Amino acid sequence: MRIMILTGAGISAESGLGTFRNSGGMWSSYDLAEVATPQGFATDPDKVHDFYNARRKSVLSAEPNAAHIALARLERMLSGNVTIVTQNIDNLHERAGSRNIIHMHGEIVRALCNICRNRWDAPKTMRPDDACPKCGEAAIRPDVVWFGEIPYHLDHLDELLGTVELFVAIGTSGQVHPAAGFVQMAAASGARTLEINLEPTEITPYFDEVKFGTATSTVPAWVADLVSRL
Ligand code: OAD
Ligand code: ZN
Repeated sequence: MRIMILTGAGISAESGLGTFRNSGGMWSSYDLAEVATPQGFATDPDKVHDFYNARRKSVLSAEPNAAHIALARLERMLSGNVTIVTQNIDNLHERAGSRNIIHMHGEIVRALCNICRNRWDAPKTMRPDDACPKCGEAAIRPDVVWFGEIPYHLDHLDELLGTVELFVAIGTSGQVHPAAGFVQMAAASGARTLEINLEPTEITPYFDEVKFGTATSTVPAWVADLVSRL
């Protein structure tokens, strides 16, 4: 069975990484236009680097939780048939042992040159005057997708959504496109769909089945159930 698992900030919440849209979430303390758009970066690159430097530091000191670990186990059990598509820029899926991961919004631990598009492992701290190791220009940025930019790997995702048999969304509010539309694309391809989230979301009505609860309790239980029926 080909399974696509779409994850969002909710899966990393219990690892201590903040979500975006709850009260007290990232977008209530920071102005999205200032720190997560190309225009914001052009206006004040120091501020944007400070924001992502702080997030990189939090990610590196966080640990994968039981939900990340359960998904890695599922991938091992169903080798070759599980793809994790994450909107998260953290590396907790990798560190939990998952291998088949698509980072559609990029990765905080990678750097990107805005001039030559070179990518490399990010230093702990980035500054606007850091030079690209390939072209030497001071155009370094975190390798993350900002609002107004096109998410990564969309062609591949389109292909996967055309053949998926089970689509599961975990810990995402379903408010950011294109990921918010994946459930309908998967359903149109004949996939069964399951949402796992703390609470109902705007896209809950599109799923065949929903499970409400924290990721660390619901995801391991769901994986154990699925594995027991293999
Ligand atoms: P949101 O912050 O919008 O949504 C997180 C979801 O996780 C909410 O529906 C919460 O109810 C749920 N949640 C919170 N804690 C949970 C827990 N312990 N267990 C299970 N669910 C929990 O985050 P995303 O949907 O990931 O993009 O946001 C999508 C994109 O918007 C992000 O990738 C980021 C953001 O702006 C960019 O920066 C481009
Ligand atoms: Zn360069």
